[in-house]
Amino acid sequence: MIDNPKQSRTILVTGGAGFIGSNFIGYWLKQHPEDKVVNLDALTYAGTLENTRSFEANLNYSFIHGSICDVEIVKQAMMGVNVVVHFAAESHVDRSILNPGVFLETNVIGTQVLLAAALEQKVTRFHHISTDEVFGTLDPNSGEKFSETTPYDPRSPYSASKAGSDHLVRAYGETYGLPYTISNCSNNYGPNQFPEKFTALAITNLIDDKPIPIYGDGGQIRDWLYVLDHCTAIEAILLGDKVNTTFVVGGLTADVTNKEIALSLLAIMGKPSSMLETATDRPGHDRKYSVDWSHINETYGWKPSVTLEQGLAQTVSWYQANETWWRPLKEQNSEYFQKQYNKD
Ligand SMILES: NC(=O)c1ccc[n+]([C@@H]2O[C@H](COP(=O)([O-])OP(=O)(O)OC[C@H]3O[C@@H](n4cnc5c(N)ncnc54)[C@H](O)[C@@H]3O)[C@@H](O)[C@H]2O)c1
Repeated sequence: MIDNPKQSRTILVTGGAGFIGSNFIGYWLKQHPEDKVVNLDALTYAGTLENTRSFEANLNYSFIHGSICDVEIVKQAMMGVNVVVHFAAESHVDRSILNPGVFLETNVIGTQVLLAAALEQKVTRFHHISTDEVFGTLDPNSGEKFSETTPYDPRSPYSASKAGSDHLVRAYGETYGLPYTISNCSNNYGPNQFPEKFTALAITNLIDDKPIPIYGDGGQIRDWLYVLDHCTAIEAILLGDKVNTTFVVGGLTADVTNKEIALSLLAIMGKPSSMLETATDRPGHDRKYSVDWSHINETYGWKPSVTLEQGLAQTVSWYQANETWWRPLKEQNSEYFQKQYNKD
């Protein structure tokens, strides 16, 4: 996709009322004011139009309320579109363990519906947002990292459904010639993340002087990617000329455990270590994810810019300043939080 300011694009973003999708739309409209963005979102429990307030009045932005599984709505949303950036998904591993069916529906069937419509529309690029979780788990004692050549080995219904969607995207590229790109990124964190995900849950609990639930021994190792660094990576991939290619994307973190993240949040928020509370571990909980993002760095010069310390501090400040955003979401989903952590 050549970045020619005189030639505007129409970009269909799916899942743009969710965490990463809304951050991406806000970022894109600022960086590329000549482009039009259409946001197709079903507004599930994880999607809220509150996430779109900062750009909803932009004349180059429009919203369609509907599901990516709905063939007619997707056809309509695809009209006049050159580029698709596909975020929409059921995205929470814990929920996939409770209710896997909807993950297959949205993440696999929904992706296929979009691919078929994108092919029909002859888009110049279909960019699929995926996860490093499709690669399974690493030995915590090894220095191994996931890369573009790591074999798939998904271990949760969520990661299996995302793996299925990745395979379908590549199949549409190989079989029908759809120009695609895929990014497999690590754990994102930052503003507007639904408060069921680890950092958002931890921060919002601490604001209320409630403990942070830590699964098992808290020794699970993750890579953390600040959401705006993710947006710049997607931008580099979209503006770049490499198609039918995959990029692994990660943050500026060394191997860090969930317990270490929790301790950092306690330190930032001035809370005692007694506010860590052990919760029953997730079944099949992957022990370690770590990503090698050298391919996107060597191809496009992209690298993350926000350190974990900066990113966590900014995220804490955002949740402290935006209680009216997260409190209703936590209240509306109190049944889930009670079931998952037996409290709240
Ligand atoms: N959050 C992370 O740490 C992370 C890490 C790696 C990859 N990803 C991937 O990034 C993408 C976005 O993740 P997120 O954290 O922003 O998720 P999210 O759960 O915050 O948002 C998902 C959005 O998709 C929408 N949606 C769900 N089902 C839909 C459907 N059938 N039709 C249309 N819209 C639908 C929801 O309403 C919501 O707005 C997902 O594909 C996810 O797998 C996320």
